[in-house]
Order: sequence, then C-alpha cells, then structure tokens
Amino acid sequence: MKSATCIAELRDIASRKVPRAFFDYVCAGSYEEETLRENVDDLRKIKLRQRVLVDMSGRDLTTTALGKKISLPIALAPVALTGLQYGNGEILAAQAAHEAGIPFTLSTMSICSIEQVAKATGKPFWFQLYMMRDRGFIAELIGRAKAAGCSALVLTVDLQVLGQRHCDVRNGLSVPPELRLSNVLDMATKPAWILSMLKSKSRTFGNLAGHVKGMQDVKSLAEWTATQFDQALSWNDIEWVKGQWPGKLILKGILDIQDAKLAVKSGADAIVVSNHGGRQLDGASSSISILPAIVDAVGSGIETMFDGGIRTGMDIMRALALGAKICLVGRSYAWGVGAGGKEGATKAIDILAKELDVTMALCGYKRVVDVDRHAVERFSHGQPPGTWT
Ligand code: FNR
Ligand code: LAC
Repeated sequence: MKSATCIAELRDIASRKVPRAFFDYVCAGSYEEETLRENVDDLRKIKLRQRVLVDMSGRDLTTTALGKKISLPIALAPVALTGLQYGNGEILAAQAAHEAGIPFTLSTMSICSIEQVAKATGKPFWFQLYMMRDRGFIAELIGRAKAAGCSALVLTVDLQVLGQRHCDVRNGLSVPPELRLSNVLDMATKPAWILSMLKSKSRTFGNLAGHVKGMQDVKSLAEWTATQFDQALSWNDIEWVKGQWPGKLILKGILDIQDAKLAVKSGADAIVVSNHGGRQLDGASSSISILPAIVDAVGSGIETMFDGGIRTGMDIMRALALGAKICLVGRSYAWGVGAGGKEGATKAIDILAKELDVTMALCGYKRVVDVDRHAVERFSHGQPPGTWT
C-alpha cells in the first residue's frame, strides 16, 4: 500500500481487502452509471496548457475555504459507511485530513458517530446533514454537531429519494452487515478487514442508532431513506436550518444555474456543484460540464466548491481552472481507507497533492490561488467541455 503510485492502485488494493458488498457500494453509480462515467470522462477531455520557461520555484498549494486557510484545495467529501470499508474508517480519515491540513466531512450516515470522531480527533470537522421528516431529531442532530465543535454544516440537497445502485440490491447491502452465507464466506477471505472491524467503536449508523425512535438495526439504505427522508424538503426549509445552525452553511448537490442562483439568495455560504458522484440522477450532466456556467452565474456571491470524478491531481487542476474554489473527493479517499485505514487515506491525499503540485508547475503556476481558465486549452465560453474541438 505504501508504494501505491496512484489512486487507481489504491482502488485495486481496496478491491482485494474490502468485502465485496462494501467495495461495490463505493464504486457504484445509479442505474446505467452514465453520469458516473461522464464525471470522469469529461474531466479528462479538458486539455491542460503546457507552459515553459516560467519560474516555477517555491510553489504554494495553500488556499482558503469558508475564510479559513487550508493546505490544499481539497476536502474529504461525506462518504456514508466509511467505517465499513475499514474499522473506525471515519475517525482514521478525519485524522488523515487534519494532519494534511484539509477539511474532513462526516456523513449523517457514518458508522462512527459525531461524538466518537470529535473525541478521537479533537479537531473541528464539517458535518453533512440529511434532512429527515422528524424535525425534532434533526434539531437534536444539529445540536450534537454544534456541541462537537463542527465548523460547517453541509446540507445535501440531491438525495431526498435514493437512486438505485443495482449492485447494492444484488449484494443485499445492509447495516450492520447481513450475515448471509455468501457475505460470511467473502468476509472470511479478508482477515485484515475483520481485524479492523473487531477494533471498531461502531458497526451500525453511529449518528442514528439509539437516537431515532423505533430504529434498531437498519436494513437497506433504500428502506431507510424511503421511510425517514423528508421528500417535501424545499427552499423554504433552508431558513429553518439556518435558525438551528448559525454557523457556515454549504449546500451540496447543486447542478443547475437556476438552483445556484437560488442558493445565493438563500444566504448559504457555499455550494458544492455535484451530482452526488453519479449516484443519484442518472443521465444528469457531468459536474465539470456544468461548473463554468454556474461560476459565471453566481460570481463572487457565494463560494463555489466542486465534486465528481476527481481521481488525479490533474483533475483537481482542471476543476480549479474552471472556477472551483476547492474540490471535494469521495471515492478517491474511500478506496484509500479500504486499502489501509489511516495510512491509506493519507496516501490518497498525498498522491493527489503531489500530482497537483507537478501539474501546476508544468502549467506554469506557482500558486494554486492563481490558477484560472488560462490553465486549460481552447476554453470556449458557455460550452461544455465535451463539445470542445
Ligand atoms: C457518497 N456521497 C455522499 N454524499 C453525501 O452528501 N452524504 C453521504 O452520506 C454520501 N455518501 C456517499 C457514499 C459513497 C460510497 C460515495 C461514493 C459517495 C457523495 C460524495 O459526498 C461526493 O459527492 C461524491 O463521492 C463525489 O464524487 P467522486 O469524488 O466519488 O467521484
Ligand atoms: C450514498 C448516500 C448515502 O450516496 O449518500 O450512498
């Protein structure tokens, strides 16, 4: 694992170490996985400009997010069930992020709870919120995030109903893991995973179990979202969230110019241009093809973050060039956690940082904050990258 050269290699290692149902869960997109593929492919269509004989000494990858200095233009995205990729996965990823000087986002659907992550790291992190019907519970959850010292609330707005990921249905994905014979046989071939799980503080949804009335063990994610998530959620509810959470608010899952403008109006501090990593509306545009138009529409009215398809530092360079302030990464670090816990998460961050650093140098930039549209070839205003000639 230590010698892994790229994210794809971490993914291969994770595929050998993590039980099939959990590995598949990370890789999957919804339905035909068109949007998942395009997130990755459209980034790669963007050509970076090679510049030479430009002083590239003393490079600087630091930037800011929500007014705070961070070491790299990267944040770890909320990834549900990280604690089933490797025991205590959320704690280990949070520690890796803190050591790298970048934000970590804890999912509502994490295995380790807000309190467990706060206690183990002793550092602020971002908390991602899914709105459920029981407002009393949500108010309590936001209160817990506040008490734990979370520094931003990431409200995810693109998953009030769940897009189907076929493999999860086939694998009978459940939390805690369903002990069917095929799963048990598979787990038996993953001794390092079993060992890590034996040490883990939690094996079910840490933020929910024991807090939601009537909830014992959660079966499938689909069942949980269908029964608990608030399908009536609308722009009017942002005010309610802001009433509960006076701190920094990020709206995650914006993929439309109209919605981006409404997000500015809502008073949120930032948006994440995202299609949930191609896991929700299949057939939606890739995140990168929408990013420039959204940046142009919102200007400096709101901080525009980006996610979807980041597998290399070159991808980060592309997204920054098209106007992203920072990139959230999901699968790239989740594979790292699966490949080797904290060390794997650190490795993933390190790979992306080093690739970005070299890419920035070869594009003739010294400071990540200076990266702009001149870093990419043939940018034609308003045209999605796929249409470039
Ligand atoms: C996610 N994502 C996600 N988003 C969110 O707001 N809350 C969550 O609990 C989860 N859970 C989750 C699980 C897994 C396994 C994946 C892969 C993704 C979406 C995530 O935050 C992010 O938007 C995407 O992962 C970005 O795409 P890439 O980087 O994975 O291509
Ligand atoms: C997912 C949810 C839980 O993408 O965000 O699986």
